[in-house]
Amino acid sequence: MKLMVTGAGGMLGQALVPCLEARDHQVIDLPKEKLDVTHYNQVLEAISTEKPDLVVHCAAYTKVDQAESEPGLAYLINGYGTENIAVACANHNVAMLYVSSDYVFDGEQNTPYTTWDRTRPLSVYGKSKLAGEKAVQRHLTRFYIVRTSWLYGPNGRNFVDTIHSMAQERDTLRVVSDQIGTPTCTLSLSETIADLIVTKRWGIYHACDDGVTSWYEFAKEIVSGLPVQVIPIETKDMPRPATRPKYSVLDKTTTVNTIGRELQPWKESLRAYLDMKKQPV
Ligand SMILES: NC(=O)c1ccc[n+]([C@@H]2O[C@H](COP(=O)([O-])OP(=O)(O)OC[C@H]3O[C@@H](n4cnc5c(N)ncnc54)[C@H](OP(=O)(O)O)[C@@H]3O)[C@@H](O)[C@H]2O)c1
Repeated sequence: MKLMVTGAGGMLGQALVPCLEARDHQVIDLPKEKLDVTHYNQVLEAISTEKPDLVVHCAAYTKVDQAESEPGLAYLINGYGTENIAVACANHNVAMLYVSSDYVFDGEQNTPYTTWDRTRPLSVYGKSKLAGEKAVQRHLTRFYIVRTSWLYGPNGRNFVDTIHSMAQERDTLRVVSDQIGTPTCTLSLSETIADLIVTKRWGIYHACDDGVTSWYEFAKEIVSGLPVQVIPIETKDMPRPATRPKYSVLDKTTTVNTIGRELQPWKESLRAYLDMKKQPV
């Protein structure tokens, strides 16, 4: 397939592009410097010139806390930016994959969220990602919306790298234990996306690594073997500008059935990533 990737310089984009190329797709990778998705004319020109089979839209405003104080920018990029891609795709009969987030849910449920569960984002970031989902559904019939969670991977600021480097400098780390979800490596998510896009079974999917944990347990796993103590704390002891869902585990049954394989357990993905970090560059 001929694929266009927006936000190709971001953490997911940098994992996804080589993964798609390794599967012999022709990939047009567009980092922000080459395509600003908030400019409709740029978007239209890129899509009408290249006429890809599918645009994988990874570009996003991802600063969850900062979004609370700059909602206009979050909606401009995640809402209107996504709508720009969707409209240009609709005008040129191009399919689209939009990467969305577990933060579209309120976390009040205690069982994994299915793709048909009610969305009710608690933060500006979550609301702006949901605005993007609605734009995609408004303009297109051939789309995938792929909700994922707790991303980390090479080439991006993320929880694993932060905890790992803090563990070299401190004896103790305080991490919240009352937010439950699933860590997901960009490398395994890229494989899932690559499997999904060849199915042509359009719709909403939940794609993350397999399993359930808290940020506290996740941190313990990251520093396992290192001389550092991880102390569980509650969200209320570490106030942040954006409210996060208490429970954002995603039900991945539809994805597993569609791609015909299980998703990688989060601990396996983490181990592989930490091993990779040890390799000399
Ligand atoms: N990270 C997570 O934990 C997580 C969890 C669930 C879902 N997601 C979703 O997964 C996707 C990928 O996230 P990520 O972690 O790879 O985020 P990321 O590293 O922040 O990548 C997003 C990329 O989009 C670029 N971008 C920002 N504004 C743009 C614009 N106007 N035009 C074009 N590009 C623009 C960013 O450039 P600059 O950095 O230069 O602004 C960055 O390179 C996003 O849709 C995100 O919402 C992420």
